[in-house]
Amino acid sequence: MIILDAGEHAERSPIALMLGHPDPTSLATPEFRSALAMAADAPDFYQGLQYGPDAGTASLVEFLMEKISREQGVALRPANIMLVAGATHAVDLLARLYAKPGGVVLIEAPTYPDAIHVLRDHQIELHAIPMDDGGLIVGALEERLAWLKGQGKSPSFLYTIPTFHNPRGSTLSDARRREVLELAARFGLMIVEDDVYRDLACNGPVPNSFFALAHGQRVCSIGSFSKTLAPGLRLGWLVAPPDVIQTCLACGTTQMGGGASPFSAQVVAQYCRSGYWEPHIQRLRGIYLRRRDLMLAALERYMPAGTTWTHPEGGFFIWLTLPSTVVASAVKRAALASGVAVAAGGPFFLDPRAGEQHLRLVYSYADPEELNVGIHILGNVVAGFMQRLSE
Ligand SMILES: Cc1ncc(COP(=O)(O)O)c(C=O)c1O
Repeated sequence: MIILDAGEHAERSPIALMLGHPDPTSLATPEFRSALAMAADAPDFYQGLQYGPDAGTASLVEFLMEKISREQGVALRPANIMLVAGATHAVDLLARLYAKPGGVVLIEAPTYPDAIHVLRDHQIELHAIPMDDGGLIVGALEERLAWLKGQGKSPSFLYTIPTFHNPRGSTLSDARRREVLELAARFGLMIVEDDVYRDLACNGPVPNSFFALAHGQRVCSIGSFSKTLAPGLRLGWLVAPPDVIQTCLACGTTQMGGGASPFSAQVVAQYCRSGYWEPHIQRLRGIYLRRRDLMLAALERYMPAGTTWTHPEGGFFIWLTLPSTVVASAVKRAALASGVAVAAGGPFFLDPRAGEQHLRLVYSYADPEELNVGIHILGNVVAGFMQRLSE
């Protein structure tokens, strides 16, 4: 094994603590290759290469209905679910069909930048609700809903990432979820929960989904195989009340026929049928638990006093807050020059200035040794800025 230290890394390709990608060694596993081969040998393989049903390949829809019903204590029916070409496709569908240009959507501050991008593509008026370490601040949501009502505006939905948030890593408690649902009922607000990290709890139980707590009323829940199996599959799912699924099935892009990624869906259905899913998820949880702990330990060791960070219970991300004198975009540039890539906080907010004191760190992608060296480099960079500013 090559042992790297913080000083010698600058000449190599940067250590990637920037992109929310899964561990590369978890992708082309022997089990995945075997499912691919079995799917290719099956007599119905041609169906994965043909246009498929609008709601998605039936065998995978069945697997998901059973999994979600069992894990979340709900009783999904086929009318509640459709496959989508990744979670982002579902966000786009809902934005296009429910908000429309000029509509209003509430998001969290910070949030997943590609959701901001998609919502802006549809010329939607966005309002950001602040978060704290416990997730979305319910009082702030209530104030904004009341204010919008006073303006004669009714938001089409709240887009939220309640579990292992991107970028904060936080998880909304059961109590706060119930409070949000009370507000949603009072103001007639639809909730779109982006739950793509739900399967990746480090340990311990995950709070009930909004969909489960609301008994499927006025909640859309988005899932994806991108963070667990492979983002290249372009495959996810939308669970929602039957009228929402109907609207999404009846829209132009779905009605051209074909369903979402029938080829991928057939391979994934074979993968799940072969019993590979559960052991894979257990293995991923172990990998990400170790990496999270490693990154947290490295932050303790190398970050200068005055820097704070979140302690996620799952997912991929840690959200770092810099001392008030240090600017994130400058740290990002200096860290890259020293051999480590991190994301500055700006793009996670509607107003990028709100992110100038934050960095998002990803522990899912780099290997353990790189994680340690990467945080060591970052700690030196931040300390260097603090030192210069104090001179
Ligand atoms: C909250 C959230 N939603 C969706 C996605 C993307 O999912 P997909 O690849 O299924 O479109 C990501 C990936 O970074 C994410 O963090």
